[in-house]
Amino acid sequence: MRALIAGNWKMNGLAADVERIAAPLAASGPPAGCDLLVCPPATILREVGRVLAGSAVALGAQDCHPAPSGAHTGDLSAAMLRDAGATWVILGHSERRADHGEGDALVRAKAAAAAAAGLTPIVCVGETEAQRVAGEHLGIVRGQLAGSLPDDFAGVVAYEPVWAIGTGRNASEADVAEMHAAVREALITRFAGRGAAVRILYGGSVKPANAAALLAVKDVGGALVGGASLNAADFLAIARAAPRA
Ligand code: PGA
Repeated sequence: MRALIAGNWKMNGLAADVERIAAPLAASGPPAGCDLLVCPPATILREVGRVLAGSAVALGAQDCHPAPSGAHTGDLSAAMLRDAGATWVILGHSERRADHGEGDALVRAKAAAAAAAGLTPIVCVGETEAQRVAGEHLGIVRGQLAGSLPDDFAGVVAYEPVWAIGTGRNASEADVAEMHAAVREALITRFAGRGAAVRILYGGSVKPANAAALLAVKDVGGALVGGASLNAADFLAIARAAPRA
């Protein structure tokens, strides 16, 4: 399985930043055996797309509305993001679940809308620190998967423990192995052979220094990278640490 290294710029990046971050990625291209994806804010999708044009680095967005169009002030449809050059979209990130009260049913509707518009969804799941301390992490993530993935799901899952995002405290390899095995089992139970082929990314404080160890864990099919994706050298170093397909 080819690794997918996806960069989530979150609410960072002005037009003046695009060349600095994206041009080295376009010049390098994805390392052999690895897929590279950048998800900038929607305001600069076209600019990033222009810089990446001609390279094999893919472009994605960070959210979409479940409806194809209509009276939804401030929102963006999957078709609009596709029109701006995106072919991927991150959905159900814990920051959206927390900041905007997004629940599993909404994430599932967004994933269906994304697929209908030609975007590949990356559906995020992950427990809070309190849920992990209470020993509820596997059940929480199983529930998020059951509720957030549409029946015809054909995308990527990202496991991102909330307590590891932006904290510098990545999950241990043992914790990642336990959770990715549980996610794989849930995917196979629900989707059979299709579930065996879904890439499961790990996200949460992935850096060049820990990438090789995290990406080598069984059933880790890549990384969703926040902070370190804003630095092209760091992002490429993480991608180079991915095992060769
Ligand atoms: P981080 O963010 O790499 O800054 O921890 C990961 C994410 O939220 O996708």
